Amino acid sequence: MAGAVDLRRADTGVPAPVVAALDPHAIRADFPILSTRTSSGHPLVYLDSAATSQKPRVVIDAVDDFYRTYNANVHRGIYEIGERATAAYEAARASVARFIGAPDPHEIVFTRNATEAINLVAYSWGRRNVGRGDAIVLTEMEHHANLVPWQILVQDVDGDLEFIPITDDGILRLDVFEVLLRLRPKLVAFTHVSNTLGTIDPVREMVDMAHAAGALVLVDGAQAVPHLKVDVAELGADFYVFSGHKVLGPMGSGALWARRELLEAMPPFLAGGEMIREVHLRRSEYNEIPWKFEAGTPDAAAAVGLGAAAEYLMAIGMDRVRAHERDLTAYALDRLATVPGIALYGPAAELRSGVVPFNLAGVHPHDVAQVLDRSGVCVRAGHHCTMPLHERLGLAATARASFNVYSTREDVDALVDALGEVVRIFGA
Ligand code: ALA
Repeated sequence: MAGAVDLRRADTGVPAPVVAALDPHAIRADFPILSTRTSSGHPLVYLDSAATSQKPRVVIDAVDDFYRTYNANVHRGIYEIGERATAAYEAARASVARFIGAPDPHEIVFTRNATEAINLVAYSWGRRNVGRGDAIVLTEMEHHANLVPWQILVQDVDGDLEFIPITDDGILRLDVFEVLLRLRPKLVAFTHVSNTLGTIDPVREMVDMAHAAGALVLVDGAQAVPHLKVDVAELGADFYVFSGHKVLGPMGSGALWARRELLEAMPPFLAGGEMIREVHLRRSEYNEIPWKFEAGTPDAAAAVGLGAAAEYLMAIGMDRVRAHERDLTAYALDRLATVPGIALYGPAAELRSGVVPFNLAGVHPHDVAQVLDRSGVCVRAGHHCTMPLHERLGLAATARASFNVYSTREDVDALVDALGEVVRIFGA
């Protein structure tokens, strides 16, 4: 397949030539959906990548190829296509490990998404290590996926939750974090990048502070892995989770990374086939990591697609992805500020990923999204699974534009033009 990204570079180990800037127009040629039109005849202007990303042809082809040519269960069939499926599944694990800087592919557990990965840690590690009166520190900007599992855990074990507050611009108050650490929490869990405000949190600094206080750290990387160069070894966290579907991979793919000794000490989360070594009627011995945490038939095709997505992004270079999205976010903040009656939320472009939440005075975000849809412009409207963050900001809801490697200035221009139409209709 000839696409904008030369995948061969990823395999040769030869450093890709330094390219000043990524050309999103060339990248777009790799994404079939981006050349489609909506039923109203408008070109699709997809600005909801924080909800889910679009998929390049290499990912679609990898999934298609799995089902067309070697569909078989993994780690089971002793025949050619079974062995091919297993090899592709494990090769995808190695790609994901390289993509996020994991020192050992066995430290990558495939999950359905970031939510499942966080639940795995909350049930398996949490119920062994968090007890009565123990604190877990979260932040006010967490997605519900990194909040509700911890609420359930502390309700079960009679522990406590504490929250790092944010400034009005959506920056974490590390001075308050320092005070909260005096409670000697067992765990600090926070998002690398806010899905609502785009804030990039200072992971390394927070990890160092938490470790100095004796806490382990879980980082929700769902909105970071698609947009920044993530190196879990450099970040120093203990658990790192992300979803595949936001990082150009298939729905139903995702991963938990954790340090080997933590995974080895943790009991299984889900139990059944594949996660065992030996089963007797009254007891079982569990498989080695990571398979101890992969009970039942996995979505192997989705994992293979995620591996293809990781290779695709490594071939582009995540530094270039970040540079492109930072430039586009700065452009969007400038252009959107010209829309009459608009309120923009979140920090400055250099402190945020490609996420821009906004409101138009007097217009409900659902109405904004509906009118934008008439022009083929897709944005998300609502609370974006961060109700406590909206409450903190005194907002019922927001509209949100979000970018990915294929987003362009023309997309932003189309958004600004369509917002002009909203203003005309509602007289905002
Ligand atoms: N977490 C996804 C979002 O932010 C669904 O839209």
